[in-house]
Amino acid sequence: MKVVVLNASPRRDGNSAAMSAQAALGAQRAGHEVDTFFLIDHVQGMLGDCRTCRDGEGRCSIGDGYEQLLTEHVAPADAVIFATPLHYYGMTARLKAFIDRLFCYTANSAPDAERILESLPDKRVGLLISCEETYPGATLGLLAQVQEFTRYNRQELVGVVVGISNSRGEVRHDPTRPLDRAYQLGQRLFEAHVTDYRFDTPRSNKVWLADGVPADPSVR
Ligand SMILES: Cc1cc2nc3c(=O)[nH]c(=O)nc-3n(C[C@H](O)[C@H](O)[C@H](O)COP(=O)(O)O)c2cc1C
Repeated sequence: MKVVVLNASPRRDGNSAAMSAQAALGAQRAGHEVDTFFLIDHVQGMLGDCRTCRDGEGRCSIGDGYEQLLTEHVAPADAVIFATPLHYYGMTARLKAFIDRLFCYTANSAPDAERILESLPDKRVGLLISCEETYPGATLGLLAQVQEFTRYNRQELVGVVVGISNSRGEVRHDPTRPLDRAYQLGQRLFEAHVTDYRFDTPRSNKVWLADGVPADPSVR
């Protein structure tokens, strides 16, 4: 499977980078093809007014590497792992710009909209968050946004790892072992049991038959 890791921190040697490296390693060791990108290299502009931004052929004219990142790497991927520091209780502005600019490629007026729209559903998505605060409320807004974003795109949010840290690389000292959990998230991206019950969902009263073996893999 093809996995893309998108690191949204401005720091290349920071805590998100440490977590995303572990997730990438886990996915690689599980046999997947993994490419890691720093958004700082590809996303310079924010969403503008498409009526003034589009060129004569209707293409987005924001001249950075976004189009190449989206069309050549993210669209063909089977899974995407977002790694972001918490900035004022949300994702970084660069990750938000990455998400907002999907609009330029999926709106009815975009030339290749069909191809990009077709690529969105069924991707597996992982989320890695690095932040200073341990208070669970700190990450709720970011988590809710990614949850709704993936639900809207008919994608599976497979797992979320929060690593408590501030200085570069100190996430390795977090006793809740976020680096190990990031590794496992990468390793189990395509196997993780993702469920979404409703009260009337027919299901067994057991979740697991044995270690890691879901009682009913068809239940969502
Ligand atoms: C602009 C900015 C805003 C931040 N806001 C928060 C915050 O709201 N809550 C928090 O716990 N940490 C906050 N932090 C701390 C970072 O999330 C933390 O240092 C993180 O480990 C950085 O990850 P990185 O090394 O991948 O950039 C903020 C840091 C910056 C630079």
